[in-house]
Amino acid sequence: MNDLAGRHLVLGMTGGIAAYKTAELARRLQDHGATVQVVMTEGATHFITPVTMQALTGRPVFTDQWDARQPNNMAHIDLSRAADAIVVVPASADFIAKIAHGLCDDLLTTMCVARACPLLVVPAMNLQMWAHPATQRNARQIADDGVVVLGPASGDQACGEIGSGRMLEPDEILDDLIAFFQPKPMRGRRVLITAGPTREPIDPVRAITNHSSGKMGYAIARAAHEAGAEVTLVSGPTALATPRGVVRIDVETARQMYDVVMREVAGADCFIAVAAVADWHVIDASEHKLKKAGVGSDGPILKFAQNPDILAAVAARPTAPYCVGFAAETEDLHANAESKLARKKVQLIVGNHAHEAFGRDDNALTLYDARGRTTLERADKLVLARQLVAAIAERMATAS
Ligand code: CTP
Repeated sequence: MNDLAGRHLVLGMTGGIAAYKTAELARRLQDHGATVQVVMTEGATHFITPVTMQALTGRPVFTDQWDARQPNNMAHIDLSRAADAIVVVPASADFIAKIAHGLCDDLLTTMCVARACPLLVVPAMNLQMWAHPATQRNARQIADDGVVVLGPASGDQACGEIGSGRMLEPDEILDDLIAFFQPKPMRGRRVLITAGPTREPIDPVRAITNHSSGKMGYAIARAAHEAGAEVTLVSGPTALATPRGVVRIDVETARQMYDVVMREVAGADCFIAVAAVADWHVIDASEHKLKKAGVGSDGPILKFAQNPDILAAVAARPTAPYCVGFAAETEDLHANAESKLARKKVQLIVGNHAHEAFGRDDNALTLYDARGRTTLERADKLVLARQLVAAIAERMATAS
């Protein structure tokens, strides 16, 4: 993925043991298309050498305000003018304190005060240092000043203690940065999404499910979060990681999914039903494992009852959110999708061919609504998800 293509980032580093993770981050940022200029404080160079960071980024590292390599001797101005953002990883308590007070006693702090681009900081410190009232006050102050503070997380710390102050992992920082640069047409919106398959039990060890991987629903949840929405994801069983910033509620059966959606839907502006929901459940699923001897050689006879239609139920609410359904079809996609649009009384149906979508990393979509048909060409599911979220946001804005 080239999510940061064309982005130039100044990667600031201050003194902290988490600096070793910044080396990995520098690689990951470039894998996603960014160019990276490293600026280190003197403290940072005690934890990792400028040589390491230079080798990883292919650019000379700056550590000194009086660096004669800049012809005008204004590294603090020149380096940040070309940047789309300054990202400080790790950010120490000392650095956050200096930024909160506008101090400029080294190259990095001077650059931050002299910058014309966004500043993001990723704190990393011992839990007592993070919890200290002065650090908390300074962190609040820089956030009020428009600095984006990412993390910190809780967990094991290098000092052997456990608590809040631990730096986010490189992949988490990467995802947050990618999200930072995405447009925000869903800001202020609450979006509820279902994803994945459902699993209907036959007995405690056997179940009926389907081939949905959940990838499309999870990609849409991520894209909606990136677009600025508050996202709740109601998920059937999948092996996928929860997208950053998304609240995930796990369910197994269609009826559990229905109950959770009905509980969560109040206050949602948009409902996107991506889950491949089982249409039926087994009546009287056995409490105990069915034994071959007890069932006989013809196998068990299962009786089914219909599950509630979650999407139709949400769309029928008196204060229904903007409703989006999916139609995964193996034949007659256009006719089936258009009939679902009318039958479920939703604003938008997203159609795809089931055998070209399930389990794959890419997909192609057709949108069906009052405007007619719109095609989103085959692409990676995250790329498509961003296009779909933009299309939904634009339709919601026009509708309200
Ligand atoms: N859906 C739902 N609850 C169900 C069944 C489906 O919310 N019990 C949603 C799906 O998440 C999807 C849309 O309805 O967004 C269409 O699902 P699909 O299974 O294709 O449609 P069905 O209603 O099952 O219709 P058909 O049996 O004709 O395919």
